Amino acid sequence: MSDVDSLIVELRALLDEALEAVEAAADEAALEAVRVGFLGRKDGRISGVLRGLGALDPEDRPRVGQEANRVKEALQARIDEAEAAMDAAREAESAPDLTLPGRSPRIGGAHPVSRAMDEIWSIFRALGFTRARGPEAETEWYNFEALNTPLDHPAADEQDTLYLEGGGLLRSHTSPVQIRTMLAHDPPIRILAPGWVHRRDTYDATHTPSFLQIEGLVIDEGVTFVDFKATLAEFARRYWGAGTRIRLRPSFFPFTEPSAEVDVKRVVEGPDGPVESDWLEIMGAGMVDPAVLEAVNIDPDRYSGFAFGMGPARIAMLKYGVDDLRTFFESDLRFLRQFAGVR
Ligand code: PHE
Repeated sequence: MSDVDSLIVELRALLDEALEAVEAAADEAALEAVRVGFLGRKDGRISGVLRGLGALDPEDRPRVGQEANRVKEALQARIDEAEAAMDAAREAESAPDLTLPGRSPRIGGAHPVSRAMDEIWSIFRALGFTRARGPEAETEWYNFEALNTPLDHPAADEQDTLYLEGGGLLRSHTSPVQIRTMLAHDPPIRILAPGWVHRRDTYDATHTPSFLQIEGLVIDEGVTFVDFKATLAEFARRYWGAGTRIRLRPSFFPFTEPSAEVDVKRVVEGPDGPVESDWLEIMGAGMVDPAVLEAVNIDPDRYSGFAFGMGPARIAMLKYGVDDLRTFFESDLRFLRQFAGVR
């Protein structure tokens, strides 16, 4: 075999070997190693063969050179192809699979306590109330003292809460919003103030240490106990139905006089038709104590009013027949979906 022929055979053998290596390459790095190993200008094996060109007769060189170019081009083309196939495979992995069945959009539903809050709010809004808010981090003055509750009063103990560095506290009820509203606005006042409150309470079926409250306050000239009772009775009828009755039980709050616990008796569906439920407590309330009006510079001889505070979670319990308050906080979708009207 002439030198020329043996070089050409060598080049073809190299091409076969290189093509096999391309076939075996598992990733781009392996492909690049094949390219450098065979086509690399300095150490590539094809370039190595071409270095033997100098020893050939000048008239034989073009044949070997042409063959070398053909081999290089064939190998480069195969490497390019393999690379493109790898790219396409990677893209296909990350691309959406258009053959999958569609996902139907999930429609969220309001939490039962949020629903109760919304319903309570829309009833009072219809009765002419506006919405008010106050901070959860309060001072002792707003939470207790301005509400006619000296700090050493037993009522302050009952509402022991978390104290903050620098003398603040987490409000134990929404009643401080009464004070903030009366300081900021002259009567007539008719507000509803929802928000979180915090108390040293056990975590059990009817208590949670943090809970939502809704405060109501009405201050105007000539507001009487009749307005107080009639407003709450109207609320109860609109919320639970026309047959609902309310009962006021004498109670005590430092900031109302007289004070009452408000109970409701609902008409519920019994086995043989509608029956009345037991009396159930829904809120604390009362006529605003003149001492509170004095603390915010409202003349108690001219103005009077009433206030109430209720827990919408308890009200939602009654409305939906839930017997454990904690279920509202446990985020179990199987429980929550029952009230949201969604599946
Ligand atoms: N703030 C009282 C409580 O949390 C409820 C209340 C509000 C009572 C307004 C009377 C008037 O227990």
